[in-house]
Formats: sequence, structure tokens, C-alpha cells
Amino acid sequence: MKAIVVKAPGGLDRLEIRDLADPGQPGAGEIRVALHATSLNFHDLLVANGSIPTADGRVPMADGAGVVEAVGAGVTEFQPGDHVVSCFFPQWPAGPAFDAVGSFAGTPGDGIDGYAAQYAVRPASAFTRAPRGWSHAEAATITTAGLTAWRALVGDAQLKAGDVVLTLGTGGVSIMALQIAKAMGAQVIVTSSSDEKLDRARALGADHGINYRQRADWGKAVRELTGGHGVDHVIEPGGPGTLAQSIHAVRVGGHISLIGVLTGRQGEVPTSMLMARQARLQGLIVGSRRQQQEYVAALEQTGVRPVIDRSFALEQLAEAFRFQEGGNHFGKIVAEW
Ligand SMILES: NC(=O)c1ccc[n+]([C@@H]2O[C@H](COP(=O)([O-])OP(=O)(O)OC[C@H]3O[C@@H](n4cnc5c(N)ncnc54)[C@H](OP(=O)(O)O)[C@@H]3O)[C@@H](O)[C@H]2O)c1
Repeated sequence: MKAIVVKAPGGLDRLEIRDLADPGQPGAGEIRVALHATSLNFHDLLVANGSIPTADGRVPMADGAGVVEAVGAGVTEFQPGDHVVSCFFPQWPAGPAFDAVGSFAGTPGDGIDGYAAQYAVRPASAFTRAPRGWSHAEAATITTAGLTAWRALVGDAQLKAGDVVLTLGTGGVSIMALQIAKAMGAQVIVTSSSDEKLDRARALGADHGINYRQRADWGKAVRELTGGHGVDHVIEPGGPGTLAQSIHAVRVGGHISLIGVLTGRQGEVPTSMLMARQARLQGLIVGSRRQQQEYVAALEQTGVRPVIDRSFALEQLAEAFRFQEGGNHFGKIVAEW
């Protein structure tokens, strides 16, 4: 079967198309999936470009969507023909995070082979059903970016109608967070480096937009927009370069979902302001399979569909990552085959 592999030590010019052995028929408890789409995440980029070291010949990509071709003995949840989407942590069925999800050792496309391939045979628990009527490309956005936004807002932050949410930037996680928050009756403030992207966010329902290049003190701008009160929840994909402003922007007793490393991996945190805000700072990595099932159900009920900026062929994966690095995208980038 055709697959993309990362040749050690990584690098976008070291992604290679290979003909790998077909994974064969599923054993007991397994399913065979004909994969048709993946979506690109920052984590996949770090594996592909060698920033996160991985095994030589690793098949990248955590997100995979396709059709069940065969089920092994004892599998009752799926049937051939079902449309499915992969789980970021196949070993996390439900409940709070635990030791095994404190690293990427069991994550497809990092510790184990991912889904930039024609077929996969995995335990049935490595997939969930995809939303009815969705394309494979749309479904592929669920695994990482979509589920992270869902878990942050609904799992950790306990979002409710009337809340005010701040999302930073217009990448995959933040745009899905905007859409979920609007579907659930929240008010949403979006930041971006681009006025044009802010207009697109408003077209998706954002109530306010702030250009963070023009307003370095965007946390203050958020407070002004909320009558000095601050927001209930912050979706924080930036990390050290944005956290101080996010703490400024959050209300007393509010919640910050610390999701990303877009501005780096360590830095200074104004701890006294965080304390004075009496805010909860919650680190998170994606979510459980149960949360993915709940997210799929919510997507079907609300009718929310992901925003796909651009689709590439699987063979163009390196080009797709370069497009992602350029930072001009809005929402998700996918590869299809
Ligand atoms: N913890 C988790 O479970 C989890 C899951 C998924 C992703 N992540 C992390 O979350 C981050 C975002 O992931 P993604 O997939 O959404 O990435 P992405 O689609 O590549 O989004 C990048 C966007 O972030 C915005 N951005 C960049 N620098 C910024 C800054 N200084 N302030 C505000 N916004 C900034 C930009 O938006 P504008 O162009 O509008 O300025 C950019 O387009 C990454 O660090 C990723 O590793 C974590």
C-alpha cells in the first residue's frame, strides 16, 4: 500500500512516499480501515520536520478518516461500510487524564504509526464513528484540533450559554472553538494578525475581533469590550508569548485552556495576576474517546461543519506542511486520497 514516511532525523524534504506491506485482515477486536483523508496539525508538523524526534520510517499524521472495510471477531460497534475517524489517544477510553496520556508514546503519527497511508488495521477502540453526511476530509478534522476545542470548552471549562469566550488566532483549534462556542450560545471575541481573517471570523459568528499586531495590549482591549469584567474562558494556543495577555483578559474566577506552543515552550508567567484573577489555568492534550463520541453527537445536532482552508493530495504532504508554516491559512488544512 502507498504511505508517506518520515526519514530520520526528519525534515519536510525527507518525507517519502513508499510502498509498504498491506496490513492484512483484522484480528479479534480489530478493524481494517481504508483511509481517505487526514488533517494537518502543528504536532504533525513538528514530527514531520524533525522537531519531535521519531522512529525512522514512521508513518506520520494523527488524524485519519475513512471507511471500515472489515471487522475482526468480537467487534460489534462497527460494520463494513461505516465511516470512521481516528482517536488521538486510542488508549484513553473515558474519564480523567491518566499516566498513559501524559506523553505521545501511544499517539498515531508520533509514538506509533499514523494515518498517512491507504489502509490501517487497528483495535476498534482506535476509531469512532464519523458524523453522518460528512466528507472524510471534514471528519479528519475531529481527531486533534476539533476534539481539543470541544474538550477545552465543554469538558474542562463547562461552557454555558451567555458565557464570553476569547479565542486566539484563526488556526484549526481556535476556529473550531469559535464555532462550538457560538453554537452553544456564547459570545466570542477573536484575535488575529489579519483584519481580513477577523472579517472571516465575524462571518462565522464572532462578536468582536482584535488585531493583535495592532493592539499589543489586546488583553486590555478584551477587558474594554467586556465592560472591564474580562472573559469567562480563554482558548490559549499561543503559550509563553500570549499567556500574560490572556491572564489580563480573563475574568476573576475564569478559566484558561493552555493548549499550544505557537510562541515557544517556556517563559515568564505573571503568577501574581493569575492568583489575583483567581482563575484556573488548565493544561490539556486533546481528549478521550468518549469525549470524541460526544463531540460527534454534538456536531450532528448543531450542524456545525469545520472550515477547511485548502486540500492537498497525499503525495503533496510536504507542500501542505509548508503552506501551514506560512501561517496564511484560516481553519484547517487537509490532505485527501
Ligand atoms: N494541547 C492540545 O491538545 C493541542 C491540540 C491541537 C493543537 N495544539 C497546539 O495549539 C496550537 C495551535 O494549533 P492549530 O492546529 O490551531 O495551529 P494552526 O492551525 O497552525 O494555527 C496557527 C494560527 O495561530 C495563530 N497565531 C500564531 N501566533 C500567534 C500569536 N502570537 N498570537 C495569537 N495567535 C497566533 C495564527 O492566527 P492568525 O493568522 O489569525 O494570526 C495562526 O494562523 C499549536 O501550538 C498546537 O501544537 C495543542
